[in-house]
This record gives sequence, structure tokens and C-alpha cells, in this order.
Amino acid sequence: MVSRVIPVDTFDLVIFGATGDLATRKILPALYRRDLAGQLPEGARITGAARTEFTDDTWPAEVRSVLDETLPADQRDTVALDRFLGRLGYVPIDVRGEAGWPELAARMRADVVQAYYFSVGPSLFGDLAQRLHVHGMNTAECRIVVEKPFGHDLETARALNATLAAHFDEHQIYRIDHYLGKETVQNLMAIRFGNMLFEPLWNAQYVDHIQITVAETVGVAGRGGYYDKSGAMRDMVQNHMMQLLCLIAMEPPYAFEPDAVRDEKLKVIRALDPVQPADIVRGQYAAGNGHASYLDDAENPASRTESFIALKAHVSSWRWKGTPFYLRTGKRMRARTSEIAITFKDPPHSIFGAQEGQKSNVLAIRLQPNEGIKLKVTIKEPGPGGMRLVEVPLDMSFAEALGTSDRDIADAYERLIMDVIRGNQTLFMRGDEVEAAWAWTDPIIAAWESREEVPQSYDPGSSGPEDALMLMHRDGRRWREVKP
Ligand code: BG6
Repeated sequence: MVSRVIPVDTFDLVIFGATGDLATRKILPALYRRDLAGQLPEGARITGAARTEFTDDTWPAEVRSVLDETLPADQRDTVALDRFLGRLGYVPIDVRGEAGWPELAARMRADVVQAYYFSVGPSLFGDLAQRLHVHGMNTAECRIVVEKPFGHDLETARALNATLAAHFDEHQIYRIDHYLGKETVQNLMAIRFGNMLFEPLWNAQYVDHIQITVAETVGVAGRGGYYDKSGAMRDMVQNHMMQLLCLIAMEPPYAFEPDAVRDEKLKVIRALDPVQPADIVRGQYAAGNGHASYLDDAENPASRTESFIALKAHVSSWRWKGTPFYLRTGKRMRARTSEIAITFKDPPHSIFGAQEGQKSNVLAIRLQPNEGIKLKVTIKEPGPGGMRLVEVPLDMSFAEALGTSDRDIADAYERLIMDVIRGNQTLFMRGDEVEAAWAWTDPIIAAWESREEVPQSYDPGSSGPEDALMLMHRDGRRWREVKP
């Protein structure tokens, strides 16, 4: 199935930190792919701004060599690449000084959409916001885009929000959580609110528990410095996993509109109970399978930072009271897989007798890879000899159902950057959402820090520490297998 491409309005996009890792690995390739798909209008311009002394000629040449190296063969198209590179310009800039700002301001066109991507560390957000203001570039309709980490805790997140709010309105601030840009994550809303089938059962009366797993095989080598100050709780749970939880737990919004959706997510975050220490298991991967240990990757032999976390959360609302949400995420696990599984309760009475193999229904939504939905249902085992029950999957892969391949699925950044240009904030986090997420996270982290708790070691290629299994076993439940 070929997806529909609706060109966006003409824009001037400035990427601050244009020579950095995020710009090179994600933002520029995403923009190129949108151009290849025909979504960028003729006058769209992209200006790189960073300290390095590139020019309007040398930066595009640099971007060409990066794209040449990194683009898969089927996305290379000489005409499209030339067209894309023709949109690029560059202004060397000193974020904290004056150099470059007047030149940049002079390039911005008043009659097109103006967007500024802060692809720099959060410590520079304030300087950028202020310089944009001083040079008259924070026009009423311009947009700024910021990335995680949005704060390190509630206090720093509040300070960042206040810094940005000094020069921009909330409707101009686009806080990226790239999980919200993933096709399958958006599909959670389509599955829930586009079907009649699930919603009546989507509550504590029918749902026994929910598991959310985001397992990765990569370690933290190369970014140990950042990661060791964050850990899985700050790096994955406070943002991506909480967003997934919100999409699963929220009430139906009155419309698919930015504030309608974000109001409902916020209510879920606020309804989260504090998590008890006994309901949390933290781990660090050991060395093995030819890889270094977490402690070596983090270059901190005394580190108490977790590369794995499993926890049990409760949402205190009419809909969810009594249904636990089990969350787990980790590095160097057995497989790269993200999945949400909703396990329904057993039928109240089995007319077939307990021994006949009745199992509970499970709706598993695979977010990546091999995106799809699997519903476990109970049927009769074929053949004579009584009524034996057996579990079978109704299995739907998006690729098969829609005739798409991985290549056709837009990367999260493609979707999100186009939404910035369109002025649609539905898939971006609002300031109060981020603060509420930290307000829930902070006491959990403070509690283990005050106990000076050391994470448990786990084998690379496993599903995390033994105690994580116990977290569910003691409730009479089991984690689903981590498999590709
Ligand atoms: C990032 C985290 O936000 O998400 C990384 O900082 C993590 O640690 C990554 O690896 C996972 O994203 P994805 O899209 O590969 O699932």
C-alpha cells in the first residue's frame, strides 16, 4: 500500500547543533526521505547552524558524504539528493555570543513557517531562546523543537520549562519523545479508539494485567558518560514507557486533537500511585558474549546506575483500580523487542472443567520489530475424544496486512518533523505532562538512592535479573518471553 503524501507548507528550518550526532543520524536523513517522498515544497529551506566553520557550499558537501555512506541503496536517488542538498545553507554561529546571529536573522523569511530545532544539550536551550528573542526571530508563529532529556528531575524540568516560557508560548514548543512518532505507537490509539471490539473490555473488570516491555540488545558503550547519570529509569521509563502506558490507560479523548489527547495522558500520569521499593528490580549487565560489562562501558567501577529496570505500577482510576501495569526495559537483553501485552481475566465459570486447558486471552501488540497484533484465543482441539481446549493465535503482521515493508514505514523523526511544520502538537509532550512524569519518577529514584542500593547483575543475552521474574511470579503471573 502506497502511503499518501500531502506536501507541507513552505518553511525555513534552522538546525542548531547541525554537525552533531542527532542531526547527522536522524534529522537530516529524515528530512531527505520526506523530500524523496515528495513532501517538501519547492521553497523549503534548511539552515545548519553550529560552531564549526562550514559554509553554504562545504556543509551540503559534508551532508552528501554522510548520506552517501548511510542511506540504504533503495533510498539513494541522485536527483532527489541534489534537490535536497540544494535546500541546505549554513551559518557558523556562537550560541552564547553574537557571531552569526544577524546573518541568520537576515535569512529568515517572514512569510513562511519558521522552525528552530534545538539539537543541542539542554544547557544551551536558555541561550538559544534568548538569542532568538534578541534578534527578533521569535515571531508569534515560529516553533522550537527540543529533545529529551527534558530535565534530570522535576526541578530541572521546571527550570527548563520556565526558561523556554520566557520567550515562547506553549503552542510554539515541540518536545520530542520519538516513541510517539513511531507508526505502531500511534496505532495504539487507532486500535483502541477506531474499533468497538476492545474498548468495552478495556478496564479492570476484564483485564488481569498489562505488560510493557522495551528490550534492547545494545549496551551503553560510547555513551556511558550520559547514560551513567541517567539509567534506565530516566532514559526510558520517565518518557517512552510512560507515554506507552498513557496511550494504553487513558480515557478516550473527545477528539484527536493536541490538547484533548494530552489532557487525557496527563490524567493517567497524575493517577499513578507511588511505587513501593518491593515492586522495583534494577539490574546491570555483566560481561559476556564478547561484550564488556556495564561497569566497564560506563567507565565507572562503582556505578549504581541501572541498565535494566522492572517495576509494577498502579493507576488509581475507576477504569484501572486493581489492574497492575508491569514495565520492564533493559540493555543487552536477549532480543530487541518492544511489546505491550494485555492479559484478560479468565471466564468467570468454565463449563468445560478446569482440566480442559482453558487459558486467558492475551492481546499482544508488537511495536518493533515485525509490527503487528496477536490475539490468543481458546478453541477446541480438533478430533474426536471429548472437548479439549487449545490456545491459538490470531496473528496479524502489519507488513502482510498492508503490503508494506520496513522500508515503507516512516521513521519517527520524519513524522514528527513534518508535524512541527504543520503545527500539529498531538504527538509532542506538553510541559505539564513532562513535569508530572518527573513528579512520579523523582521519589522512586530518591528512595533507592537513599538506600544506596546496588543493582543486581544479569547475564547479557538474558531477560534481566532473576528477581525481575519473581516480581511477577509472586503475583502468580509470568513475563512474556523476550524474543525477536
Ligand atoms: C533513546 C534512549 O531515547 O531511545 C536510548 O536514550 C534507547 O538509550 C533509545 O536506546 C531506544 O529507541 P528505539 O527507537 O531504538 O527503540
